[in-house]
Amino acid sequence: MPDYRIRGGNRLCGLLDVGGAKNAALPILAALVLSEGESVIHNCPQIADIELSVEILRHLGCRAELKGNTLTVHVPAITNTTLPTELVARMRSSILFMGAMLGGCGEVTMAGPGGCQIGPRPIDLHMKGLRKLGAVINEDEDMMHARAPEGLHGTRIYLREISVGATENIMLAAVKATGETTIVNAAREPEIVDLARFLNAMGAAVQGAGTSTIRIVGVKKLRGTTYRIMPDRIVAGTYLLAAAATGGDLTLQQVNNADIKPIVAPLLAMGCSIKERPAVIRLRAPRVLKGLHLTTEAHPGFPTDMQALFVAALCLAKGTSIVEERIFESRSAHVAELIRMGAHITLTTDERTFIIKGRAHLHGAQTTSRDLRGGAALVLAGLAAEGVTTVTDAGYIQRGYEKLTEALNSVGADIVLA
Ligand code: EPZ
Repeated sequence: MPDYRIRGGNRLCGLLDVGGAKNAALPILAALVLSEGESVIHNCPQIADIELSVEILRHLGCRAELKGNTLTVHVPAITNTTLPTELVARMRSSILFMGAMLGGCGEVTMAGPGGCQIGPRPIDLHMKGLRKLGAVINEDEDMMHARAPEGLHGTRIYLREISVGATENIMLAAVKATGETTIVNAAREPEIVDLARFLNAMGAAVQGAGTSTIRIVGVKKLRGTTYRIMPDRIVAGTYLLAAAATGGDLTLQQVNNADIKPIVAPLLAMGCSIKERPAVIRLRAPRVLKGLHLTTEAHPGFPTDMQALFVAALCLAKGTSIVEERIFESRSAHVAELIRMGAHITLTTDERTFIIKGRAHLHGAQTTSRDLRGGAALVLAGLAAEGVTTVTDAGYIQRGYEKLTEALNSVGADIVLA
């Protein structure tokens, strides 16, 4: 894996476009196996996980061409129902192919999913939901065999915990099931709304996405469609926070203002000045950021995917900040690395609450990224720090950020990938 090398201290100023959302694109690509015919998906981010998903589609017999940010896929009647282990094991979201394949082909054989190491990431809610719809899932060694011998049937599914992936997997399996499915305590993330819009554009009948009750009336067939993936709210948040931490003045285009409200609220509380127009947001950093107390929650709460990035910026804020991670058990790998850069952070014994005493400066250091957002937080800290920071294992970060160095350098950063 390459490394990022950052010479810090430059203010980020200027204009950036925000690309398509990884976490919306991944379920949408899985959903393609429910359809027959041609679909054109615009605003696909050019990142590794999208390429892996496209490879899985090709393995299943789809003709797929990715040109820039546009993906054209021709989906035939799928006969191969075994997913390639070497691709599946490399990303968490491959589990979404289970619901989609069950819905589309009535069967799938696949390995367990991989993904970022941010604590135990069980799939029990996915399994329970799919079984309730009528799937029979056998797990042996590392492989899972799922089939629907009597078809899938609509039902009421209550999610004990709010799960983005389980909500999506159940939606994918239910759109072609017979009868009506209700998902209660569904995740409300904007990416769920994007998936519902895409499924409906293919001919599905999904209602209530974005609320905690989703109703799906099964349809017999889905057709190909043309669709534009929503903007990536976490990439937008990353750029805004990088501007905040470097004393910058940054304008972002192609954002969805409603989706980024839970990120904008704490930026305002930190003293940033924010101006918004439809699809545009401008952030001007204050001279010194203010500390604050943040707790991660399911949408519309403060997103766990922004936790590490805020922790990095708050290392430079005035006063004491407290950040609590309530979604994942161990999303704290960035903390030890930030401490190497001079940050003053203490962790509670469960490693889920970070107490940050703000400092006037961080200094450059050699750091290691261990997961996507934690790695991005180190890049952010490096942009704001004095001197040179190296962030090794950039591959984790590249999973979620398209052309990160080009974007940051175009607004004044000094960062290379080597
Ligand atoms: C999605 O992961 C995102 N990934 C994550 O983004 C994001 O951090 C997360 O949602 C929360 O917002 C994609 O969309 C591809 P969950 P997902 O199921 O679906 C527990 C990033 O950086 N749980 O909502 O895997 C789980 O352990 C990534 O872009 C169960 O107990 O997250 C966690 O505590 C990383 N059983 C909580 O629910 C299950 O079966 C929420 O997880 C499933 C989840």
